[in-house]
Amino acid sequence: MAYETLLIETKDQVTTITLNRPQSKNAMNPQMHFDMCDALAQVERDDDCRVLVITGAGDSFCAGMDVKEYFYDTEGKPEARAAARKAAFEWMFKRLRLLPKPTIAAVNGWCFGGAFAWLAVCDFAVASETATFGLSEVNWGIIPAGGVTKLVSTLLAPRDALYLIMTGRPITGKQAAEMRLVNSAVPSEKLAEATLDLADELKKKNPTVLAYCKEVFRVDQNLSLEDALAFETEKWTELDAAAKKTWHKGVKQFKEERTLRPGLETYRWKE
Ligand code: COA
Repeated sequence: MAYETLLIETKDQVTTITLNRPQSKNAMNPQMHFDMCDALAQVERDDDCRVLVITGAGDSFCAGMDVKEYFYDTEGKPEARAAARKAAFEWMFKRLRLLPKPTIAAVNGWCFGGAFAWLAVCDFAVASETATFGLSEVNWGIIPAGGVTKLVSTLLAPRDALYLIMTGRPITGKQAAEMRLVNSAVPSEKLAEATLDLADELKKKNPTVLAYCKEVFRVDQNLSLEDALAFETEKWTELDAAAKKTWHKGVKQFKEERTLRPGLETYRWKE
C-alpha cells in the first residue's frame, strides 16, 4: 500500500517505516497520523514482519508535530484538530506501544518535541552520534504535551527530564545515549548496520515469547507489586499454552543434550 507521507518496506522479515516528508524535516502533519494508523495496523497483521524499524527520510528523523498543519491550520476547527489528535494518540499509544512485535527507532537526524512521544514508546532506540534531540516546546511558548512530559518523566532521571523540558537545549545522539534516552549511539554511517544487528538478534527469539514479554512489561508499569505478581503468573500460564510449552525444548537442550547454555544464547524453539 502506498502512503502520502510514509515509505514502507519489508526485507528479511524486518519492516521499515520511513517518515517521508523530508522537505518539512518529517514533521508530523494530520495526514501522517492517519497514514501511521493504517500502516501500523498492516504491520500488526503481516506475518512476514517480525521486527519493525521506524526512521526518517533525508537528514531528519522527525521534527515533532507540524506546527503549521497540526496546530495553526486547525485553530478554530475543533473537529479537524480532534481527528488529528485522535489519530496521533491511536498510532503512538495503542498501535505502536502495544504492537506485539519488537520495535526499534533508528534516529538518523533531527528529533524534536512530539517525536519524543513515539520515540519513548518504541521498545528500543539506536541513534546516530550526530543526531540532534531537543524538547523545543519551551522555545516557542508551549509545553511538551501529548504524552511527551509524562513519557520523558518515566524514561529519564528527573534532572535530565527537567533539563530538556525547561531549557529546550538540544543534545547530541551521544548525549542521548548517556542519558539513556536511546540504547546506543553509533557513527551515522553505522546506524543501519547497528539497527539491523539488533533486529537480527530479536528475530532469533521465539516471537510469541517476545510478544508476552512486551505486554507484561507495558501492563506492569501501571500495577502495584501485588497486582503485577498476579498478572505475571497469569501471563506465564497463558504463554505456556500459547507457545506450546516450547520451553521444555530449552530444558532438554540444556540438561539432556547439553547443546545449549541459555545464559549465553537462545534455545532452538523451532526444532
Ligand atoms: N513543523 C512545520 N514545519 C517544519 C517543522 C515543524 N515542526 N520543522 C521544520 N519544518 C519546515 C521548515 O519550516 C522549513 O519549511 P520551508 O522550507 O517551507 O520554509 C523546512 O521544514 C526545512 O526546515 P529549516 O528550518 O529550513 O531547516 P534547518 O535545517 O535550518 O533546521 C530544524 C532544521 C529542525 C532545526 C528547524 O526546522 C526547527 O527548529 N524545526 C522546528 C522543530 C520543533 O521545534 N519541533 C517541535 C514541534 S512540537
